[in-house]
Amino acid sequence: PVLVVDFGAQYAQLIARRVREARVYSEIVPHSMPVAEMLAKDPAAIILSGGPSSVYEPGAPSLDPTLFDNEVPVFGICYGFQAMAQALGGTVAHTGSREYGRTLLSAQGGTLLRELPADLPVWMSHGDSVAVAPQGFAVTASTPGAPVAAFEDLTARRAGVQFHPEVAHTEQGQRMLERFLYDIAGLEPTWTPDNIIEDQVALIREQVGDKQVICGLSGGVDSAVAAALVHKAIGDQLTCVFVDHGLLRAGEAEQVEKDYVAATGIRLKVVDAADVFLGHLAGVTDPEQKRKIIGREFIRTFEAAARELDAERHIEFLVQGTLYPDVVESGGGTGTANIKSHHNVGGLPDDLQFALIEPLRTLFKDEVRALGAELGLPDEMVHRHPFPGPGLAIRIIGAVDRDRLDILRAADLIAREELTASGLDRDVWQFPVVLLADVRSVGVQGDGRTYGHPVVLRPVSSEDAMTADWSRLPYDLIAKISTRITNEVREINRVVLDVTSKPPGTIEWE
Ligand code: XMP
Repeated sequence: PVLVVDFGAQYAQLIARRVREARVYSEIVPHSMPVAEMLAKDPAAIILSGGPSSVYEPGAPSLDPTLFDNEVPVFGICYGFQAMAQALGGTVAHTGSREYGRTLLSAQGGTLLRELPADLPVWMSHGDSVAVAPQGFAVTASTPGAPVAAFEDLTARRAGVQFHPEVAHTEQGQRMLERFLYDIAGLEPTWTPDNIIEDQVALIREQVGDKQVICGLSGGVDSAVAAALVHKAIGDQLTCVFVDHGLLRAGEAEQVEKDYVAATGIRLKVVDAADVFLGHLAGVTDPEQKRKIIGREFIRTFEAAARELDAERHIEFLVQGTLYPDVVESGGGTGTANIKSHHNVGGLPDDLQFALIEPLRTLFKDEVRALGAELGLPDEMVHRHPFPGPGLAIRIIGAVDRDRLDILRAADLIAREELTASGLDRDVWQFPVVLLADVRSVGVQGDGRTYGHPVVLRPVSSEDAMTADWSRLPYDLIAKISTRITNEVREINRVVLDVTSKPPGTIEWE
């Protein structure tokens, strides 16, 4: 793999993604990993990420110079660039001046920046600067605040840049990364969904042998793709369980039952637990309490289903749709259940007596989608918007009951239908519709007064749900959704648009 050494900035994940977009497999490792351990992974190249703004900052992580005692190609970015310069005998000037945001790079040839415009917008965020490049390095670019903004040593296969090629604000950043990977490090773009499937199928077969496996399907992309992959590997040894908690959107349970099973041939056990969930949720208005009840009941229901199944066929393994960001955020491998306790009710209890199979734990969401498509899952499933485990319960502001769920389901369906009809599904990350069940306002419809509820439209765009912005949907589309909802859903007489980014808002209202 290409190792991305994480110096503590939020950029490491982005770099790893960009490398994979260049069809080269990458992994993130912490900067505290000893060099010997990095080398033991047999890295095809090493990328040093950004981090604190200065190598002189107190507590700034150091870079072990023995990294450069061997021939692995190295690319330094921002902090990694400075650390690399320092370790190789260059000079980093403690200037105290800062350069943040968009700036113009003037490139002077070289391989990394070959055939790029001479004046190129790049994204900077640094305090100190490299003043003198290490011996053997050619300086190939500068900016107003950084006399040495890029350097390269083609013989040693090392290069670095002061700016951030991985962010979208750096135009041509992806090309620069590719120049490093292909032209300087000499790597081939061979990492494809096909390879992933083959590798994973072999691994799963080896891990499972002839044992039985269970998987909880949430209806979401991750568990669907994980199950499809495991099914490809071991076929009938897999049984899936889908808990219908009564908080799903219109058509959702049916989609899993029919489309998914039809596409994959997976054996599915559907548990109808709506009465139980709604019983426990009756009268509850506090968001955290709702989440806790749903989490708890989900686990109980799943465990009961697993026990029943286990009586028929002894189950030894549990499939989880854990993704790479989950693994990284939890500190690189252990305790993945933790971060998911809030965010993935579709995820499962860790005190179950099963060994885990996590075939997606090296992948990002977009890669999982590509894999799903490759595995032949229906398009609607693969490109489905994320839907939270607690379902519509956290989109009803106020207590949850069947009537309110029906109202929200009807409004939500209209919003989804119209979004799809407008062809904008893929431009929107997610489109929650939220029912303000305890709020009423006066309206007029036909000749009469109405006293109904508002719904909130919350379309957002995002890369990873950590941050988000409200989607600028066309007014015509919003108007159409509004008109249809107020016409077709009797209890709703007002439609409002949420124009809050995240932060400060979250995507969901609860
Ligand atoms: P927030 O509301 O925190 O949501 O901005 C970020 C993303 O996570 C989803 N979400 C959840 N997903 N279980 C899940 O599986 C949950 O408990 C949960 N809460 C929020 C949300 O829909 C958005 O995509």
